Amino acid sequence: MLTVALPKGRIAENTLSIFRQIFGRDFKFEDRRLVLETENFKFLLVRNQDVPTYVYHQSADIGVVGLDVIEESGLDLVRLLDLRGGYCKVVIGMRESDQLDYNKPDIVIATKMVNITNRFFSKKAISPKIIKLYGSIELSPLVGLSNMIVDIVETGTTMKQNGLKVVDTIMESTTHLIANKSSFIEKKSEILSLYSQFDKIIRDGGKI
Ligand code: PRP
Repeated sequence: MLTVALPKGRIAENTLSIFRQIFGRDFKFEDRRLVLETENFKFLLVRNQDVPTYVYHQSADIGVVGLDVIEESGLDLVRLLDLRGGYCKVVIGMRESDQLDYNKPDIVIATKMVNITNRFFSKKAISPKIIKLYGSIELSPLVGLSNMIVDIVETGTTMKQNGLKVVDTIMESTTHLIANKSSFIEKKSEILSLYSQFDKIIRDGGKI
């Protein structure tokens, strides 16, 4: 039995449809239920940012989540496979009229991703003031709460429509299949068998 942590929404739906493809049967959560049990798998529906936590503490053996979320969690997990979908970038944004100057004192950054931000700036030996926000990050430079943001860009529309530009890219992200380190040893054959079936589908052009 493998327990699989999936983030609510598009990634869960795409993952379950790949399970459908592999095992030739339907995998569907009932209404508001957060657990789906089948003969060989137990699926858990969790918040996107919580997937690494469930896998790290071995409440799930494997999980599907964006590389940005894995990096932000800072947790030690096995990265099994790049599932190629969900492409986005973690970038630094500023107002269109502002210039990037990492040597400027008083850098104030608003972000949801405090750990990624801290790591990026400490490599440059800069210690900016970091303000943690939970959403609508693009608003903060417009009202003077910050002079930079670190945020996710998918289409770039949100930044553009709010008069912001990308001044640097911290990382690129796609969805990944991850595993708990102990599960990877204890349930190696089950995990590797699933891995190779996913790998084949991804090689054939599928993505999650
Ligand atoms: C994310 C991200 C940006 C937006 C980027 O926010 O934080 O705001 O999507 O997408 P785009 O480049 O295609 O415009 P999300 O939708 O998760 O909402 P939030 O601001 O409440 O976190």
